[in-house]
Amino acid sequence: MTLAPEARHAKPDTPRNLSMVGISALEDWEQSLSPATARVITGDARDTGLPDDSVDLIVTSPPYWQKRDYEHQDQIGQESTPQAYVESMMECLDEWKRVLRPTGSIFLNVGDTYYNRSLMGIPGLLEFDAVQRGWLIRNRIIWTKDGGMPEPAKNRLANRHEYIIHLALKPNYYYDLFGYAEYMGNGANPGDVWKINPERNMGSHLAPYPQELVRRSIMLGCPPQVCLTCNKPRTRVFERTRELDPNRPQAKRAMELADAARLTDDHIRAIQATGVSDVGKATKFQNGTGRNSKEVQRLAAEAKAALGGYFREFTFAKKVTTGWTDCGHGTPARGIVLDPFMGTGTTLKTAQEMGRDAVGVDLLPLMEEREVPAPRTSAK
Ligand SMILES: C[S@@+](CC[C@H](N)C(=O)[O-])C[C@H]1O[C@@H](n2cnc3c(N)ncnc32)[C@H](O)[C@@H]1O
Repeated sequence: MTLAPEARHAKPDTPRNLSMVGISALEDWEQSLSPATARVITGDARDTGLPDDSVDLIVTSPPYWQKRDYEHQDQIGQESTPQAYVESMMECLDEWKRVLRPTGSIFLNVGDTYYNRSLMGIPGLLEFDAVQRGWLIRNRIIWTKDGGMPEPAKNRLANRHEYIIHLALKPNYYYDLFGYAEYMGNGANPGDVWKINPERNMGSHLAPYPQELVRRSIMLGCPPQVCLTCNKPRTRVFERTRELDPNRPQAKRAMELADAARLTDDHIRAIQATGVSDVGKATKFQNGTGRNSKEVQRLAAEAKAALGGYFREFTFAKKVTTGWTDCGHGTPARGIVLDPFMGTGTTLKTAQEMGRDAVGVDLLPLMEEREVPAPRTSAK
């Protein structure tokens, strides 16, 4: 990993007063920025020293309760009760609320702990208290893996999953479901179970999480570019095409009927604007009153007459990215990812690889440079 000083962004003179730029403009800007940086701070996750509103996404894995003793007086994880542990984590959330931009969010990887032969329900306690403090719990993702540490208990199943809690400050947090769904395969919502197996030396004493877990979190939650003037992330703009999946017989028939009736792109867009209910959602094709204009309704009616029940097919045609939003304030900066429990630096490395700037905080130096405690294996 290259550890560089704080990001310094090149600022070429490229004023753009458009509300949207094409994909190539995003790539041009990407080229013009200095390489993505990773910065390491020795400090406490509850007091990072970072400026207010300076981070787009937090991806992190704190020490789990009563698992590893990092032998530091300020460490989190060795509190005497689950409640005290949750209280420490709430102090973290208060600090993270301060450093996150309003559109920011957190992917928090946590596991539970057996104590006196019972699970303590720690992820649930964390979620409950976070909601009381105004956080939105958007997902509790199950991270499942094949295999894992051998467990001594003979009257319960071995634990093979952890959680990734996705917390946001406001409903309009940055989220690129479209890009993520494309990455995961077929464009549909891929769901809240992540099967990710360990990737590297995670066995004996290091406690890193897999890069793939971080990659998915960044893809979903960290904008590639952010405007430093208005603090807004650039978001993907996409449009439905008329392209359907030819492997589905209904879709194939819909395309045949559309060709036979020589339906134009405007016809197809009119179907997509009116949708199944005729109320209409696509702003481009409306008359500004929230209803579809007369012309759109006429085109949709013609198309529906030609397609019959097959018109529905075009309401879920393939979407493509047409560009990214632009607030018009010139060259943006890279999105910034923070890991306040940096450990071996998995988050920083992944963020840099994905063209995001990264900041890591830890009480101790990068784990590669220190002895790491073994986990307790007394859970029964
Ligand atoms: C589970 S490890 C993180 C592993 C990391 N995700 C990785 O991939 O390497 C937890 C880290 O939290 C650090 N830590 C514990 N208490 C802390 C605190 N109060 N503030 C900052 N770091 C802390 C430990 O030193 C340890 O490096």
